[in-house]
Amino acid sequence: MVTALPDGPRNRLLSTIKVLRSPFVDLPRWLARYGDPFTIPTVNGTVVMTGDPALVKTIFAAPPSTYLPWGVDAVAPMLGPGSVLMLEGDRHTRERKLLMPPLHGERMRAHAQTMAEVARRHLAAADGASRVIAMDLMQAISLEVIARAIFGAQNDAQARALEHAVLDMIAAASPMLFFMPFLQRDFAGLGPWARFRRALAQLDGLLQERIDDARRHPRADLCGLLVAARDEDGEAMRDADIRDELRTMLFAGHETTAITLAWIIDLLHRHPEWLARVQAEIDALGPAPDPIAYTNLPTLDLVCKEVMRLYPIVTEVLRKLREPLRLGECEVPAGIGVCAGILLVHRNEALYPEPEAFRPERFAERRFAPHEYLPFGGGDRRCLGAAFASFEMRIVLGCALARHRISLLDETPPRPVRRNLTLAPGGGVPIRVNDRAGLS
Ligand code: HEM
Repeated sequence: MVTALPDGPRNRLLSTIKVLRSPFVDLPRWLARYGDPFTIPTVNGTVVMTGDPALVKTIFAAPPSTYLPWGVDAVAPMLGPGSVLMLEGDRHTRERKLLMPPLHGERMRAHAQTMAEVARRHLAAADGASRVIAMDLMQAISLEVIARAIFGAQNDAQARALEHAVLDMIAAASPMLFFMPFLQRDFAGLGPWARFRRALAQLDGLLQERIDDARRHPRADLCGLLVAARDEDGEAMRDADIRDELRTMLFAGHETTAITLAWIIDLLHRHPEWLARVQAEIDALGPAPDPIAYTNLPTLDLVCKEVMRLYPIVTEVLRKLREPLRLGECEVPAGIGVCAGILLVHRNEALYPEPEAFRPERFAERRFAPHEYLPFGGGDRRCLGAAFASFEMRIVLGCALARHRISLLDETPPRPVRRNLTLAPGGGVPIRVNDRAGLS
């Protein structure tokens, strides 16, 4: 058995910069040069990365006690100690059980109408403008969906207030603050930390109003369901923990959905044959169907899956080892990170022939196991919002294409660029949106 860490790039700072700036270029290059798995030294610790589906399966199948969460310290001030992202062990498993039902099945489907109304209103407002950034438009939609379906805003005024508070908090949350903890000090109510704390307090005040309201009038949004939830001992969640979870859903769910939608809009419109097929499916439903119908369209589904294969917005998921883990021929010691290389698996030629090509039909030709197709990660930390995001994205796209014609304004396809933790289309996908009725 080999016990030394596998080979890989040596320079810690340079490899950190490469992972952050150009994972689409450097991860495949390292794989080709060093083999699978390979070791990457980063400023946050050393990680062993694999793009081999069998090893990814090993990572996802290991018991939860094998791992600690990776690199969450930086976001701790925004999420709080009650966030599922910060928790580990049994408490993490219990919290996932509480959060899962509101984001799945009938409770999720109950939000279809809200998602469609929000999407139609924002798209109608963008109609006719000479230049709209698809990512901003999609972000405005996903933020309002969170304000209503997750936080439980009951009317426009409440939704607007929550959206403004969120945007203020995001504006105040400079990455410097989180990566340089010594800046987390209040200078007599002045400075970036004080500004961030004020924005956070403002948002928390509004979230607390939603919690108090749900206690008086039970509601079916995620906030309402968490207020009503009881654990195995009949205990309710503490308000501070509910607020932490609501902020976590915002952090994990709002930019991710918007960026993925922007990639889908871009790639779909660069492949007219697929656009025509998706358009025909949508038109067959008529101009204002029950929005749930958009979530059952087979061609739209293939397209969404293929875009998330080619451009996974999270290119790898990491776990820190609490105890050693055997990864192929290598015994990775405790304290090191192991990393499932989503991008590397998705570009694996044995699984996906012509991996660089946009071929949505590959998802009709065969089924992929969870360790072969993993845009939402996997194992005990797989994305809690995967079903919710997939549902919302299909409704937004259905509403967009049913009533509007979208034109891309940039001839050159965008390149993936880092945006916080995700890889977004550079330039945000500039588009023009036109009412189809007006055009015909
Ligand atoms: C297209 C949109 C989305 C993508 C691509 C995405 C992707 C991911 C990925 C890759 C992870 C890490 C999984 C792992 O470590 O194995 C994750 C975690 C998570 N996501 Fe998402 N996500 C999306 C939307 C959402 C939405 C809408 C929500 C909530 C409403 C959400 C909530 C979460 C939470 C709470 C976690 C942490 C789970 C845990 O640590 O147990 N995500 N997501």
